[in-house]
Amino acid sequence: MRIFLTSSKDEAWDIASARIIDTAFEGMKLGVATGSTPLGLYARLRQAHAEGRFSLAGSSAWALDEYVGLAEDHPEGYRNVLRAELVGPDKTGLAEEDLHTPDGSATDLEAAATAYEEAIGSVDMQILGIGGDGHIGFNMPSGSLASTTHVGTLTQETREANARFFSGDVSSVPEKCLTQGLATIMRAKEIILLAFGREKARAVAELIEGPVSAFWPATVLQHHPRVTILADELAASELTMIDYYRAKNDW
Ligand code: F6R
Repeated sequence: MRIFLTSSKDEAWDIASARIIDTAFEGMKLGVATGSTPLGLYARLRQAHAEGRFSLAGSSAWALDEYVGLAEDHPEGYRNVLRAELVGPDKTGLAEEDLHTPDGSATDLEAAATAYEEAIGSVDMQILGIGGDGHIGFNMPSGSLASTTHVGTLTQETREANARFFSGDVSSVPEKCLTQGLATIMRAKEIILLAFGREKARAVAELIEGPVSAFWPATVLQHHPRVTILADELAASELTMIDYYRAKNDW
């Protein structure tokens, strides 16, 4: 694991976007997270596209997850969120048909999960956020470390955390989701995980220094050969070896 402690979210977004821009190629499969963590990164990719330094035209983007049961035009449906962030010549050049999201409105959700798992293969670069309980994608604590794309149930903690996107109304946050599994995420060739704020500190400490455990799903990344963690000072605040990581900051 490469661990890079940043003084701000902006620094983390700068570093992550530079890495993606540097390694991008036509036909790249980019794995994309939703939530608030990657928003500044997407803004930088849009800026780079506007300046002619980056394009997802001819490439594809693959969502980690999708809510089940939201109306197709619900602005917080992850397909709609990612469309607004990335799709179109005024964004990153990504074509609508090259944005892939699990079909949370399918009548047969198991079949939709299998279809997504088969379609995704492996992405070239995966962007990840992390939940306060260590979830990545919507892989909640206690799920299988070997899971593939599946129908999941959100914890109450995650629904409460995400209520801010639903006017603060927890009851509007779906209970079910379709999510890439941990084994799906592990097939990515390279992974960049961003973590910001005090509420992520325990999860970041477990991710980097804890034992691998299904109870802290992100710890599976300790088995991945090419993971970079970009954490701000608050998210890094429970790390035991913080001085060492700070000293070697070797991006
Ligand atoms: C979203 C996702 C989640 C989020 C996590 C953190 O696609 O997969 O794992 O990355 O819930 O969310 P934020 O960034 O809103 O703190």
